[in-house]
Amino acid sequence: MRYLTAGESHGEYLTAILEGFPAGVKIAPAYIAAQLKRRRCAPGRSARQAKETDQFEITAGLSGGVTTGAPIAVLLKNAGRDLPPPSSLPRPGHADLPGMLKYNTLNAVLVRERASARETAARVALGTFALRLHELLGIGFNSRVITLGQLPCVTAATAAAELLKARRAGDTLGGIFEVEVEGLPAGLGSCMHADRRLGARLGAALLGINGVKGFEIGGGFEAPLLTGREAAACPELSGGIDGGMTNGGALTLRCAVKPVPGLPGGALATDLKTFKKKLCVSKTSDTTAVFAAAVVGEHAAALELAGALLEKFGGDSLPEIKARVDEWRKKTGQILRRL
Ligand SMILES: Cc1cc2nc3c(=O)[nH]c(=O)nc-3n(C[C@H](O)[C@H](O)[C@H](O)COP(=O)(O)O)c2cc1C
Repeated sequence: MRYLTAGESHGEYLTAILEGFPAGVKIAPAYIAAQLKRRRCAPGRSARQAKETDQFEITAGLSGGVTTGAPIAVLLKNAGRDLPPPSSLPRPGHADLPGMLKYNTLNAVLVRERASARETAARVALGTFALRLHELLGIGFNSRVITLGQLPCVTAATAAAELLKARRAGDTLGGIFEVEVEGLPAGLGSCMHADRRLGARLGAALLGINGVKGFEIGGGFEAPLLTGREAAACPELSGGIDGGMTNGGALTLRCAVKPVPGLPGGALATDLKTFKKKLCVSKTSDTTAVFAAAVVGEHAAALELAGALLEKFGGDSLPEIKARVDEWRKKTGQILRRL
């Protein structure tokens, strides 16, 4: 299974194609719309999101609301079409500067139009198909924000207060989100080659989300604080992956999302035409991306895990895959239950 996205932040459409997805998966437009809304309306998002409606059309791969096995194509309409004027001022902390150097342009807008996290809407749209496949196989996904800035144990009320404080100060916040997956069959991924290790694959998928700068599985960066004996008493430290393969336990992934670099209060930047310093003010920036990134993280993980599942079980249609997964669960369950 593979996927590609195309489209710019203020272009007419985002386009997304998912190839290798099995036939027989029933998916309702309302299911896709609800997942897109979770990303669009996550706490901390800016007023631009009020403009976006994430209207979409599935133009291929579906017949009567059921996947056919053909490549799935999704067109997502952009509502925000007011393309900003050309700018030679690269915004700090963004793709602007390296992108302007790399693509030989003095117009940062050409870079940021594609580097923008608007693209993550396309990844979510495709991820909904993977989520639905998992759901039909009894595999459940969950995500939550565990820290917002320096605030631990985030609740809706504490997050709202913290976000308001940051917004009033013209500032932004980062945070950490967690994705948990339950019900994965044991043996997805492989220990046989570095690039087949499931942790490496999930790391690439999650570090591919704009603003994600850290990734850990299970005990992650806390595990080294324990001795080997202490760690051996906590099997959950493995986070559901041992030796690059799922071990039958719940999968726990965590990502650190940096503070949104676009500051409403402004940050100093150097104009590449004049080499003069200017204040770069981001009026339409999100106050934090961590809640939206958590939703994207769920979908990015779902896509990678669906790929790993199809590699292990093969199958061109849902009934075929389900029969194989059920059989495998029966066989491995007999062993795992006795441990
Ligand atoms: C859903 C989502 C929304 C984001 N919104 C903004 C934003 O409004 N303003 C901003 O400056 N960065 C935002 N970011 C983060 C930037 O896209 C990201 O930091 C930037 O592209 C640079 O990439 P890097 O941080 O991965 O190096 C967002 C990220 C995500 C995942």
